[in-house]
Amino acid sequence: MEELASSLQKLGVSQVPAVENTTAFPTYNQVDIYRSHIAECLAPITGAQPNIIYNVLQWTQTLDKGDLMLPVPALRIKGKKPDELAKEIAEKFPDSPLVQKPVADKTFIGFFFKPAPLTQLVLPAILKQGTKYGFNPNFGLKDPKDASSGQKKIIIEFSSPNIAKPFHAGHLRSTIIGGFLGNLYQSAGWDVTRMNYLGDWGKQYGVLAVGFERFGSEEALTANPIGHLYDVYVQVSKISAEEKDRVKELKEQITALQDKNEPVAEREAEISRIENEGIDEEARKYFKRMVDGEPDALGIWRRFRDLSIVKYKDTYARLNIWFDDYSGESQVQNESMDTAARVMAEKGVSEESEGAVVVDLTKYQKKLGKALVKKKDGTSLYLTRDIGAAVERFDKYHFDKMIYVVASQQDLHLAQLFKILEVMGGPYAEVSSRCQHINFGMVLGMSTRKGTAKFLDDILRDVGEKMHDVMRGNEGKYVQVENPEQTADTLGISAVMVQDMSGKRINNYEFDINRMTSFEGDTGPYLQYAHARLCSIARKAELSPADLASADLSLLKEKHAVEVVRSLAQWPDVFVNTLKTQEPVTVLTYLFKMTHLLSSSYEQLSVMKAENRELQVARATLFECAKVVLNNGMRLLGLNPVER
Ligand code: ARG
Repeated sequence: MEELASSLQKLGVSQVPAVENTTAFPTYNQVDIYRSHIAECLAPITGAQPNIIYNVLQWTQTLDKGDLMLPVPALRIKGKKPDELAKEIAEKFPDSPLVQKPVADKTFIGFFFKPAPLTQLVLPAILKQGTKYGFNPNFGLKDPKDASSGQKKIIIEFSSPNIAKPFHAGHLRSTIIGGFLGNLYQSAGWDVTRMNYLGDWGKQYGVLAVGFERFGSEEALTANPIGHLYDVYVQVSKISAEEKDRVKELKEQITALQDKNEPVAEREAEISRIENEGIDEEARKYFKRMVDGEPDALGIWRRFRDLSIVKYKDTYARLNIWFDDYSGESQVQNESMDTAARVMAEKGVSEESEGAVVVDLTKYQKKLGKALVKKKDGTSLYLTRDIGAAVERFDKYHFDKMIYVVASQQDLHLAQLFKILEVMGGPYAEVSSRCQHINFGMVLGMSTRKGTAKFLDDILRDVGEKMHDVMRGNEGKYVQVENPEQTADTLGISAVMVQDMSGKRINNYEFDINRMTSFEGDTGPYLQYAHARLCSIARKAELSPADLASADLSLLKEKHAVEVVRSLAQWPDVFVNTLKTQEPVTVLTYLFKMTHLLSSSYEQLSVMKAENRELQVARATLFECAKVVLNNGMRLLGLNPVER
């Protein structure tokens, strides 16, 4: 703060502008200095409170509209037409060391920051804060303005694949979006717990265990647990389906024979053999043993789970993702589900219906329908386990917020979950009020037809190979890449992730391997290329730390240089806005705008062709700052920026 105060003094601003009762953080976000300054200048002119003005100042869509703008009607000043007021206020705005004379445009007033002071404030802040620039760890505090108030706790549940089932597009999106949200909240100072809630419970896992007894191999299991368990599951499901078909066929034959008064005993015996000894019955018995907590049955189950987790961890690591807690449906305690069932019954939330237990949610909202919470045979369901899990997590972590990153196909499921918790009242309602479903649309064209299931590893390998082909297409550049395999892998992952994050989460998108791996257009490889280019500028200019510290930033006068500085100054605001939208595309849109601006500046701001070393150092410093911002943005998204 003292450093900032003295830089501002040099610029002719006697006190660090910081309007009270706002989220102004002048050391983290230089635009907050301008917001405060403008609000302080406007208060006497308009008669509005500085904090009101502060909060209605908006950022602009394009820099030609200014760096900040004021929608005059938002000040609710009575008696004059907003466009006349806009002109009048702009006219009365005092001379300022930081901003130019404002421009009235209809009912808006545009403010342009004076280039030289902006450069002096922003670039040194970027260099000083480096990998932290733009991120503000105060937003995760219970009180953002009180450092001693303590961190808020958030659980982000994401990825959550099902053991022995394909890792489908929905899991891929959940993984990418959840990883991003983890980074986002962590950078905002929250205490983040990343949780993977595995689909690892239910009768189908009895089927899997039975299948493993018949077709499983220890060797294959240890070598590739996820693939092997899936194969076993496919094989055993096939037999179970055949058995079902056979029973149907036999029943038809029996009806036909009975019509003709012919004997059916043999066929009836076969049906009863299938029903008593077939896969399904065997699986049911096995799962019953698991539910009853029989150690043998659970032991095998635990091994499948543990080995799968080891494998998942490797794959997640390729995406810069890790989990603090591998929970799962199997981990939900009967006790918490029983307690919840009792509360639901006592509060009249649930009712018996033909031997089962249901919750009629149509009372609250028609579209929530009726939800089954206990089957006739007394077993729990997906929804029941989620109720128990939510409460257990609250007891364990006392979270302030919990996010479920799950495909929009499960909108109803989560709406039912939250509503049930809410109407259960007391601590359950408290849990519900802290929960949020972050949903997303589908990926088209990555369908997993039976038998041709895709696993995350396969998807990443496919894209990595394709990326390698694209790279080989440029012979000249290809030979300069030191470790092409690894670079192709990293670029491939970026390609998949950026495509996924390029639209609003809720939109569906087409999985298009050709487009995502292209270096042209708004793609992952394009961002990586932009980053590598900035790295190469710093290398070629042989920019030392001493150069960075002594660079004469007043030399950065060209229109292009000023535009780049203005764009870099927006990054902390983009971060704050992303916390509001919870959309990766908010970051991505900014990064593409910024990198396009850079591409069109290299010619005009050539580092190698600069007239003298001073100018060369100043320009290289500007690009160094751009690199810091691009790097921070990419890492926030979960990308691994490459240097070459
Ligand atoms: N395993 C589930 C599936 O693949 C997703 C779990 C979502 N999370 C939850 N708490 N229900 O469909």
